[in-house]
Amino acid sequence: MRTQVAIIGGGPSGLLLSQLLHRKGIDTVVLERKTKDYVLGRIRAGILEVGFVNLMREAGVADRMDKECFAHDGTVISFGETQFNIDFKELTGSNVVVYGQTEVTRDLYEAREAMGGQIVFNTENVTIHGADSDAPHVTYTVDGTEHRIDCDYVAGCDGFHGISRQTIPLSIRKEYEKLYPFGWLGVLSETPPVNDELIYSGSERGFALCSMRNENLSRYYIQCSLSDAPEDWTDDAFWTELKRRIPAEYADKLVTGPSIEKSIAPLRSFVTEPMRWGRLFLCGDAAHIVPPTGAKGLNTAASDIHYLYNGLVQMYETGKSDGIDQYSEKALARIWKAERFSWSTTNLLHRFPDQNAFDLKMQKADVDFLRGNREAQSVFAQNYVGLPY
Ligand code: APR
Ligand code: PHB
Repeated sequence: MRTQVAIIGGGPSGLLLSQLLHRKGIDTVVLERKTKDYVLGRIRAGILEVGFVNLMREAGVADRMDKECFAHDGTVISFGETQFNIDFKELTGSNVVVYGQTEVTRDLYEAREAMGGQIVFNTENVTIHGADSDAPHVTYTVDGTEHRIDCDYVAGCDGFHGISRQTIPLSIRKEYEKLYPFGWLGVLSETPPVNDELIYSGSERGFALCSMRNENLSRYYIQCSLSDAPEDWTDDAFWTELKRRIPAEYADKLVTGPSIEKSIAPLRSFVTEPMRWGRLFLCGDAAHIVPPTGAKGLNTAASDIHYLYNGLVQMYETGKSDGIDQYSEKALARIWKAERFSWSTTNLLHRFPDQNAFDLKMQKADVDFLRGNREAQSVFAQNYVGLPY
């Protein structure tokens, strides 16, 4: 088999790239290790920056999103007794939208299938060959049969545990990582959201977040221990703990109900450099991870796809390589800023096991400064709605 761009990974990064390139007449094949149902069963964050929304529109897959999404013009920040709102719209003129990543992925699969896009599921042993040559190829097996795809370029969109990043030799690759000493326990429930804006809450019992998907679907998180398992938390225990970590006015009106999904995610900051090796380009979680505070995961993937897509289109349409030559540098410049925002917001609102009384005062001073300073709120808002591409 031959294609122009072989895409490893059928998550949102790989599908969006495939869809965008297809519309420019550039041929792709997507190789996905799991089944479509498995990919669509993963519950991830639900806040999209305008840049991501625009990319979905450019890809021709925004119809349902435009109908069903909710614009959010601000957020509530709470820390102990302190509570305030950051008004994104007023401070930046922009906003974010609530639309689940699962829905984004579903829309992308539907579009790819409607356009006859080639997606191979259940691929095993995916291996990239000759990434640093002029003629790369990818091999993989399905049901024990080996296949080969020759291509011009390879896009490594296979997430944090994928093989693409590992293909770049260690002599070239440099990885930066920070692990946090806690996780997030998330619950999805068919209940109305407690507030029409998200609530990010730092409390002495740990962090909590009140988020949502729609009028009758709420997503809540609490900071938990890394040794906890979802089964350790009954629904009752979760709701009780959540109520203790958010301001009383919200706790009193929180509508609880059975959880329809419950999972724990560890928190990690991670970046690999460079994001390009020869004809291999890393995108999304394959190259970087942020802790979820600030909802930058999918949105950082989107800026990678934007740079790579434009670079590849330029190359195929004009023969000029500056877009793909600058890919790693441009993508990383934005990534590091999103990493900084996610790391600092995590530090601001979580309880750390080794925190002493001084550290707590510093956290409180940071929050007080943010509450009282319009410029500080503007910096927060600019980062939250998304830095320009
Ligand atoms: N071969 C083929 N596919 C693979 C391989 C492999 N060796 N390894 C992983 N994959 C697939 C995974 O099964 C997954 O479907 O690659 C896909 C990667 O998808 P994601 O992990 O969702 O990563 P990405 O598409 O970059 O999405 C960005 O935004 O909110 C964040 O972390 C969140 O998923 C999210 C991300
Ligand atoms: C979510 O809705 O799942 C969500 C929202 C905001 C975050 C993280 C997750 O910062």
